[in-house]
Order: sequence, then structure tokens, then C-alpha cells
Amino acid sequence: MLPDYFTLVNGQKVPSVGLGTWQLEGGKGYSAIKHALQNGYKMLDCAFAYYNQEVVGRAIKDSGIAREEIFLVDKLANTWHSAAEKNLELTLKSLGVEYLDLWLMHWPSPLNHHGNDPKTPKLADGSVDFEKDWDYVKTWKSMVELHRNYPEKLKSIGVANFGVKELEAIIEATGVVPVVNQVELHPSCNQQQLFKFCGDHGIQLVAYSPLGSIGSPLLQNEDLAGIAAKNGVTIPQCLISWGVANGWPVIPRSTSFERIDQNLQLVELSKDDLFEITRIGSQNKHRFVTAPWHSFAEI
Ligand SMILES: NC(=O)c1ccc[n+]([C@@H]2O[C@H](COP(=O)([O-])OP(=O)(O)OC[C@H]3O[C@@H](n4cnc5c(N)ncnc54)[C@H](OP(=O)(O)O)[C@@H]3O)[C@@H](O)[C@H]2O)c1
Repeated sequence: MLPDYFTLVNGQKVPSVGLGTWQLEGGKGYSAIKHALQNGYKMLDCAFAYYNQEVVGRAIKDSGIAREEIFLVDKLANTWHSAAEKNLELTLKSLGVEYLDLWLMHWPSPLNHHGNDPKTPKLADGSVDFEKDWDYVKTWKSMVELHRNYPEKLKSIGVANFGVKELEAIIEATGVVPVVNQVELHPSCNQQQLFKFCGDHGIQLVAYSPLGSIGSPLLQNEDLAGIAAKNGVTIPQCLISWGVANGWPVIPRSTSFERIDQNLQLVELSKDDLFEITRIGSQNKHRFVTAPWHSFAEI
């Protein structure tokens, strides 16, 4: 049986499947989020940098689902590393909630808080404008302090897009281990080294872009289509089930009610099918999400 939840080291239960909310904006985004909550989703993955927190907040309120029934994840934006407390306040206000279940550092990449763009500030030469005299270790220290000072506002803290190097740096500097590291994770980017490191340190990996994001070639892969057809499901259902079977929560996004519902229906794949999906991915290694403000380690 595939698990409904994964339990973090601090005892929090993270639903196996949540709804990603990147680009879920306006009326369509609102309807998608409300529909998901009213039809079984118990986790929302959100971020200040998605600039849709009011929409998410309204969908939560109008869904009629009690706040404590939802595992609500949000993220500290890159341009707010040096003003983390204010970012948290704004996030809670925009979402219209009293607390977050999990607050993540979105990237280990502090960008100029007073730069020429709220998302990707640039210098005159066109390069990314990083925050001066700041680094992600300082940011983690701020988050640790906020968690200590406001346990009623933050149930737990974690990170996203961290590799082994960055995880080691924040753990060594503070002794505080993030409960979650949310990273790109699907068969073409299966993060085995990071998974092992996180497992050894009590850090739960969470899979973002589990379908390979927009226009994913995984959804056109004929071998995956064969496995899906054999099991009477779709490729996205296979990819989501593969992740949960391997030991991590998965946060697919969709705007379509039908696909939102479909993505919650997992399938118990055989060991051979799971192995085959891993093999297909390792023959087509690819990271779909890249950003000008961060250099990832090789996958
Ligand atoms: N921490 C980070 O830095 C980070 C980075 C990237 C993403 N994330 C999080 O992870 C979430 C998911 O990642 P993502 O949005 O990049 O991509 P994804 O969930 O891997 O893929 C989304 C795409 O797949 C399509 N899709 C979804 N379900 C489908 C189905 N059953 N059949 C066919 N197509 C389907 C969607 O189109 P339709 O809408 O048309 O269905 C959309 O184009 C994000 O929303 C965000 O919350 C976090």
C-alpha cells in the first residue's frame, strides 16, 4: 500500500500528494485550488515569489476546508533574505492565515532587496544583483530565530533547491537541520546522492516539477506510455506514484479539474515497473528547472 503521509523527524505528517500553485493565478488558479481542496488535496505548495498568495488565501477560505486540515507550505523569496521577518508577516497577511505548516528558503540565493526588480534584480551589466554582505547561511540563521521566536506562526522550517554542499553549510553553522529539502525530482532527475544524504540526516526530500514541468518530454515518452497503459493509468499517474513509492511527497500542478483529480489517484506499480521507470529516466537525464541566480551540482 502506498502511504497517504510521510512523517517528518519532528512528527509532522506531510500528505503524499499536494497541489503545486506556481502560475495558478486569477480566476482559473482560484478555481483550481478550491477544487483541489474540496476534492481531497490536503497540501498546497505556495511561494511569495509566485505572486498569487491572495488567490491562494481566498481559495482556502472559500473551500470551506478547515485550516488545520491543510498542510500549507510557503517560501521565503530570494529578494527578502535580509528581511525575512517582514516577508513572513506579508505572507501570512496575504494568505489570510495565522500560521504556516512549513516555511522554506526558496533558493540558497539572496538577491538585492532594494534592487531594480522584485524577483530578479539585475546590475547595469545585466548580471544578477545579489544581496551584498549576505549569504544563505545568514538567512537560515534568521529563519531558525523566527521559528524559535514564533512557533505559533511557523510549525517548521526547511529549504528548497539545496544540494549537499549548502545543506552541510547551514547544518554546520547552526546545528539546526531543515526538516524538508524541496527539489526537482522525477525519473530524469532522480537525485539519488541527495536522497541518500538527506535520509542520513533526517531531511525529507519533496519532489517539485514531478512531471517535468511545462511541456515535459516525459509525458510523450513511449516506454512510459507502455507502462501506464499496462497499469490502466496515465504517465503523470505513473510518475507521481513512482515518487511516492520511492519515499517522497510529490506536488504536481494542474489547472484542469480532471487532471487535478487524476493526479490524486495513485497506482501500486510492480517492482519491475518501478525499476523500469527509474531506468528510462536515467537514460534521459535532464534538469528542467534552472535559474540565473544558482548553479546546481551535476545530476
Ligand atoms: N521550490 C522550487 O524552486 C520550485 C520550482 C518549481 C516548481 N515548484 C513547485 O512544484 C510544483 C509543480 O511543478 P511544476 O508546476 O513546475 O510542474 P509539474 O507539476 O511537473 O507539471 C505541470 C505541467 O503538467 C501538466 N499536467 C499536470 N497534470 C497532468 C496530467 N494528469 N496529465 C497531463 N498533463 C498534466 C500541467 O498542465 P495543465 O495545467 O494543463 O494540466 C502543467 O503544464 C509547482 O507548481 C510549485 O509549487 C517549486
